[in-house]
Amino acid sequence: MAINNKKPSPSIIFIFGGSGDLNLRKLTPALYNLSIDNYLPEKFAVYGIGRSAYTNEQYHERLKDGIVNFSRRNEVGKNWEGFSKHLNYLQMDADNPEAYPIIVEKVAEKEKEWGIHPNVIFYMSVAPQLVPEIATNLGKLNICTDKSCVRFVVEKPFGHDLESAKELNSLLTSLFAEEQIYRIDHYLGKETVQNILAMRFANALFEPIWNRNYIEHVQITMAETVGLEGRAGYYDQSGALRDMLQNHILQLLCMVAMEAPVSFKANEIRNKKVDVLNAIRRLKPEDVHANAVRGQYSDGWMNGNKVVGYRKEKGVSPQSDTDTFAAAKFYIDNWRWQDVPFYVRTGKYLHQKSTLITIQFKPAPSYAFPAEAAETWRPNRLTISIQPEMEIRLRFQAKKPGQSMVLNPVDMVFSYANAYDGHEPEAYETLLLDVMEGNATLFMRNDQVEAAWDIIQPILDAWTSRPAVDFPNYAPNTWGPEDAEALIARDGFNWVTLPLVIKDEE
Ligand code: BG6
Repeated sequence: MAINNKKPSPSIIFIFGGSGDLNLRKLTPALYNLSIDNYLPEKFAVYGIGRSAYTNEQYHERLKDGIVNFSRRNEVGKNWEGFSKHLNYLQMDADNPEAYPIIVEKVAEKEKEWGIHPNVIFYMSVAPQLVPEIATNLGKLNICTDKSCVRFVVEKPFGHDLESAKELNSLLTSLFAEEQIYRIDHYLGKETVQNILAMRFANALFEPIWNRNYIEHVQITMAETVGLEGRAGYYDQSGALRDMLQNHILQLLCMVAMEAPVSFKANEIRNKKVDVLNAIRRLKPEDVHANAVRGQYSDGWMNGNKVVGYRKEKGVSPQSDTDTFAAAKFYIDNWRWQDVPFYVRTGKYLHQKSTLITIQFKPAPSYAFPAEAAETWRPNRLTISIQPEMEIRLRFQAKKPGQSMVLNPVDMVFSYANAYDGHEPEAYETLLLDVMEGNATLFMRNDQVEAAWDIIQPILDAWTSRPAVDFPNYAPNTWGPEDAEALIARDGFNWVTLPLVIKDEE
């Protein structure tokens, strides 16, 4: 979230896991887009670190494939040649502490060539179990003590539960200063997510009604149509609650619920978010059952293709208790939100890909209108569609044209596709640029991560101690288990789903 248009100062990025998927699909394509859009400094170098042997040329070919297949600009143009000069492959065994001085040499080389002390960024694009060792080895290099220029970027999952997250935090903060650590939650880099702050705090319209007096409830859905995608090794140890709810969903919830920041400084925004996390009511063990729902998909069909149930996926135990769906109801105990329920849900192989935030307002008193006018009367509703549609809709009542007073709900829509040219940067473009600029606003601070784990820990504990007796409990291409419908229906509401066009029966 750059506040100005200045280019970052000269930077070197070391990507551990340089030949891995994340780099091929997201990081290098993001850097390439940044270079086309002229955001990168001229003095800029990337070293992809890996164990396999590649020449620079072979490495470039792999990276190029990644761009063609996964970038929003899925082609490599004539500027590739200039860009690829910045990309290097460094074969190195990250397990071996004696291999690390090469990094210091590379930094010194560039420093000499450029005549300037550059930013040095270490990006952990590796399996989470490798992070502590790499961090420890890097921490021993004297260059890492430079707090202003050296940054350590770590991907999720950040820990496996509250205790392991605390351990990782305490290790990393013993090696680096907190301001050097950039914990990524890629949802925060999405344009539509950043726009929540603009919508809430750059308009006078919403703030006066953004509270328990006017809002009845809030929903956040993060539905995916993909299944395991061959990630059993990671996912079977994780599950939907850890993979999506602990991080992405709680971060969106913070954006919706936070107080207005007094500045856009990283710590100010993060303080306001952590206040929300701290105010979320912790579930007691005996309350978990009524407030959280887990699910796991069975055999079934997705888009005309037969898919196997989670327990039959390659690499997954036939008895696996891992949740591929999680839903929960939270309360935030503060002045703004007391008694307003927040319903959240996420899952794999659901009916539609959609990340949707719904703010449901309380009904207006309808006494002045004749009964027949109000038949299709619906309370106001604001829906923020994060993806794949990128739009904001406000539903309100209008008079249906005709000779009598009949009301029906209509939508006012802001859509990115209509308002802009449809070339929004991808999350990783924004986040990588922010790291180069040293702007940590969109990254998770240690206390945020721990507070988020603290919220879901009672659910994790309850689910671990009581295996699910009904798994698999939802079919692919549905909206998840019936219990998730009951979670919200018990309070008299229902999940909002796409399409958002208004239907009479709704
Ligand atoms: C990742 C999860 O963090 O987010 C994946 O590990 C999930 O399981 C992905 O598929 C979803 O991200 P997006 O940006 O495609 O919604």
